[in-house]
This record gives sequence, C-alpha cells and structure tokens, in this order.
Amino acid sequence: MALLEVENISVHFGGLAAVSNVSFNIEPGERLALIGPNGAGKTTLFNLLTGQLKPSSGKVLFKGQDITHASVFARTHMGMARSFQIVSLFSYQSVLVNALIGLQGIHKSRYGLVKYMLRDQELQAAARELLESVELWDLRDEIVSSLAYGQQRKLEIALSLASKPELLLLDEPSCGLTTSESADITTRIKELGSRITVLMIAHDMDLVFGVAERVIVLHYGRIACEGTCEEIRTDQLVKDIYMGSRKGLTAGSGGKL
Ligand SMILES: Nc1ncnc2c1ncn2[C@@H]1O[C@H](COP(=O)(O)OP(=O)(O)OP(=O)(O)O)[C@@H](O)[C@H]1O
Ligand SMILES: [Mg+2]
Repeated sequence: MALLEVENISVHFGGLAAVSNVSFNIEPGERLALIGPNGAGKTTLFNLLTGQLKPSSGKVLFKGQDITHASVFARTHMGMARSFQIVSLFSYQSVLVNALIGLQGIHKSRYGLVKYMLRDQELQAAARELLESVELWDLRDEIVSSLAYGQQRKLEIALSLASKPELLLLDEPSCGLTTSESADITTRIKELGSRITVLMIAHDMDLVFGVAERVIVLHYGRIACEGTCEEIRTDQLVKDIYMGSRKGLTAGSGGKL
C-alpha cells in the first residue's frame, strides 16, 4: 500500500487555480522531489498535504486513512512532519530550548513549561541525541538568532525529525545555504535511508539529483510530468518549462531553478 495517496486535489484562491487536479502516490521509503518554477503551486500543495490548507476538491490518504479534513496536529500524530521554506524556529530561545520544544511538540503559548522540560532527564537525553545528530550539541546554549543561517536550517530539519515521522516533507531544505552546507544537507537526507519517506521541494538541482529517486514537475498548479532524475533531466517539456528562467537542468553546477 502507498504511504501517501493524493487523488485529484485542487485548491483555488479567488480565480487562481493554485493546485489543479493533482494525483500521485508515494511508496514507503521513497524519496520524491517536487520541482517547478516559482509560483507553480509547490508550497500550496504541501499545505494541502499537511493540513495548513483545505482543498476545494480531492482527497488525501495517509496509510490508507482519509486525512483530507484532518488537523495539522492529527497528521503529525499519525507520522507526518514538515520543515518550512522559511526557517520557523523560536529565534529568541536557545538551541536546547528549541530542541526540547520540538521533542514535546508543544505550542508556543506554553513556554511556561520550558522550566519543567529543562529538569526532565529523559527529555534532556533525547535533546542531546537529536542535537548531536546535526553537530549542534556544543551550541546548545546559543540563542538561535545568533547562529549562522546554515546551522538554523540544520536545526530546523533536526526538529522536523524529532517526532520520528514516517513521512518528512521538506520545503527547500537548502534554500540560502552555501554549496558545502547544501551538500551536507544532501548527505543527511540520504542517511535517513528507507526508514523515513521523503517528499522534498527543491530548486537546487544538485540536491534533487543527489537525493530523489523520482521527480514530479509542477507547472501552473498541474503535474506537467514525472519520472526518474534521468528522465526529467532529458525531458523536452521540462526544458521548455524552464526556458523562461534560462537556467539548465544540470547538476554539478550548483544549478538552481
Ligand atoms: N494564501 C494565498 N492567497 C492567494 N494566492 C496565493 C496564496 N498562496 C499562494 N498563492 C498563489 O498561488 C500560486 C502558487 O504559490 P506557491 O507559493 O504554492 O508556489 P511555489 O511553487 O511554492 O513557488 P516558489 O518556488 O516561489 O516557492 C502563486 O501564484 C501564489 O501567488
Ligand atoms: Mg514555495
């Protein structure tokens, strides 16, 4: 059974069909990339999958269950996690406090609980393991806003793993990173192995071709084509879609779309 099944999903903003009749499946353990020019509807599609937005029509099934109208919380509880296109950390809290909050999955309004979390030995051990996995344990007492952007990004990805998700949705994980930081993220995503299924939005073709087993190209809210990295790299329609941006679909050049 597919882990995620998306059936004819659409959403409209006024007259704009931001996502239109999109259908696809993700198999357990698969790493799938979602690409497409700016404004193609990629983040909107993510919002429909994670429950931030409700579709005008269509269905989403996760592990065979219809979650089309389930809350974000319910989806997280079932095993879905996401990182955002823009870093979404508690920037005036320390790295450690962010890790504790991520592990507890608590809401921002419940900061009062932090002092209890700091005393919880089991939670502390989990936070240490999580931060060590992204080499941020030594920086645990730093305020997040004082970290380099690449470190914030790594922390955010680590936190999206804190709930031990089965499906991880990453929206431009390498956005704003240097080439070497981006290569590091590529390695980390690959290291997740087949334990965690990944759906990733990316403009960075090195990341896409380095990580994805299958690629879906979104254009004006619709699936224009899908295939393996090799098929996408050589597809004439994909080349035509990106002609306007005058950037090639080549990995190895830090090619961004
Ligand atoms: N809340 C909203 N209200 C109205 N229009 C919206 C809203 N969110 C997105 N849009 C529009 O829907 C379209 C798809 O936007 P979306 O952010 O999903 O694109 P994207 O593929 O993620 O682009 P990018 O690569 O730039 O991140 C765009 O035309 C955008 O302006
Ligand atoms: Mg986007």
